[in-house]
Amino acid sequence: MWGGRFAEGPSAIMREINASIPFDKVLWAQDIAASKAHVAMLAACDIVSEADAEAIIGGLERIAEEYETQGVPEDWDLEDIHMTVEARLADLIGPVAGRLHTARSRNDQVATDFRLWVRAAMDEAVAGLEGLQRALVTRAGEHSGSIMPGFTHLQTAQPVTLGHHLMAYVEMAARDVSRFRDARERLNRCPLGSAALAGTGFPIDREMTAQALGFAGPTANSLDSVSDRDFALDYLAAAAQCALHLSRLAEEFVIWASQPFGFVRMPDALSTGSSIMPQKKNPDAAELVRGHAGRIIGCQTALTVTMKGLPLAYSKDMQDDKPPVFEAAGLLRLCIAAITGMVEGATFQTGRMRAAAELGYATATDLADWLVREADIPFREAHHITGAAVRLAEGRGAALGELSLADLQAIDARIDERVFAALSVESSVAARASHGGTAPAEVEKRVHEARGRLEMD
Ligand code: ARG
Repeated sequence: MWGGRFAEGPSAIMREINASIPFDKVLWAQDIAASKAHVAMLAACDIVSEADAEAIIGGLERIAEEYETQGVPEDWDLEDIHMTVEARLADLIGPVAGRLHTARSRNDQVATDFRLWVRAAMDEAVAGLEGLQRALVTRAGEHSGSIMPGFTHLQTAQPVTLGHHLMAYVEMAARDVSRFRDARERLNRCPLGSAALAGTGFPIDREMTAQALGFAGPTANSLDSVSDRDFALDYLAAAAQCALHLSRLAEEFVIWASQPFGFVRMPDALSTGSSIMPQKKNPDAAELVRGHAGRIIGCQTALTVTMKGLPLAYSKDMQDDKPPVFEAAGLLRLCIAAITGMVEGATFQTGRMRAAAELGYATATDLADWLVREADIPFREAHHITGAAVRLAEGRGAALGELSLADLQAIDARIDERVFAALSVESSVAARASHGGTAPAEVEKRVHEARGRLEMD
């Protein structure tokens, strides 16, 4: 492509280090779409003839068919997907193919192709996260009244409902969706026509190509256009945060599926066995979601560090932008699908959860709240009285509700028999009906709202 300037060809090592075709060939559809939009614009602006533009578009469509059915050939001498397509176009239609690259550089070309690819990856993540939210909301609706221990420090804290716990992840997924949507909005400007770095002297119409490719308009600064990879970093940041959420849910499944907990049976289809221990059923899919989250966060770090010291405008370092994005997108797609399958297929052991909620003095706060409400005792004093009741019960190996009224009155005479109603896990969760609280009625409201938002009714 630039043979005129050089007396010798590149060495084997130059060809190898320079070639991006092994990974950027996945951009072929975006590259062809952007080239078609570009040449149609060149014709509309009388920069190439209609006949040449038609020949080029026809050739590009044939190439698309070839790649669709036979894959993209990998020739290191052609470096990247842009040169690969252009060389094939020249094979097919002859020297007129050379007119396609008028008023364009690979710098604005790759910026455009990559934006189109990342935009689709954002849309795919949003669709996947909507599916995950639907699965969570469905299971939450089934379990709005299923009681389990809520934890802080992974120590039993207060009873909650499983529906409430699952709806917490709906909130996280909804924020992830908003991050991808927000990033998409910022991404959606078209760099095509910025050429190598300075713009072009040809009378092009950048609005036309932007519109043809579904962008809101052209980018405003040609230097920024060819050197900006914020859209990829925004995607990776949203992906990393999303992966972090998926990893937390995966971690809960791993804990809940362990024998001492026994809160959940994971679906067979998303578990594995052991080659030596016949009884084993391991939550490998959940562990891999947790593991893949680390890799996705690594991808974000990789591109951040690649970009951080680059002067304007394009430098070849930027060719390394694609592998971390492609890797993260592939991993994120798998993680969302796997966790959605786990949520859909999990068998929650509600009896075990309910029994665990009875342990660990989960309703101690309810006793303290009762003392505040019914005996008008300041909360700090009520906290102290309740602590004494827990100490007594713990010494006897009993639950709070198993202490006698006489035991409780010996600690504080203002306690009466009505207190026992407050000590059940059912009354504990029912009482927490503040907005966003765990009360079944409150969870049902949130489920109803989410079903509406996700168009599930
Ligand atoms: N393969 C290159 C990349 O992915 C395309 C841009 C090449 N531009 C250049 N000036 N060498 O970044």
